[in-house]
Amino acid sequence: MTASTPLCRFDDIPDGGAIAVHVDSATGGFDLIVLRRGERAFAYHNECPHQGRNLDYAPGRFLVKDDRLICAHHGASFAVDTGDCCGGPCGRGLFGIAVVVEDGYVRAGALSD
Ligand code: FES
Repeated sequence: MTASTPLCRFDDIPDGGAIAVHVDSATGGFDLIVLRRGERAFAYHNECPHQGRNLDYAPGRFLVKDDRLICAHHGASFAVDTGDCCGGPCGRGLFGIAVVVEDGYVRAGALSD
């Protein structure tokens, strides 16, 4: 993956919501959560630090409320704009990916898996 690789169309993310994006790689790839708040986007690996599970309550569906992303399994919550742990059994924050919104796309910086 190279710098400015498009992850998804910005308009595909509901404002205040999140979508799942799978990133292919030579080793099988990995899953990201891409969130939108106004004109900004944020991306994190879809892996809860509590038990390493995906945060979805259904495939590609996430709980986002009051600028918090909430893990569907045991309720750990994370700040949308930083990925920091805000409550529940997370212990630490989410692993973030630097992204920019450019030409209608959310684009990633350097990614590794
Ligand atoms: S796996 Fe996310 S809170 Fe337990």
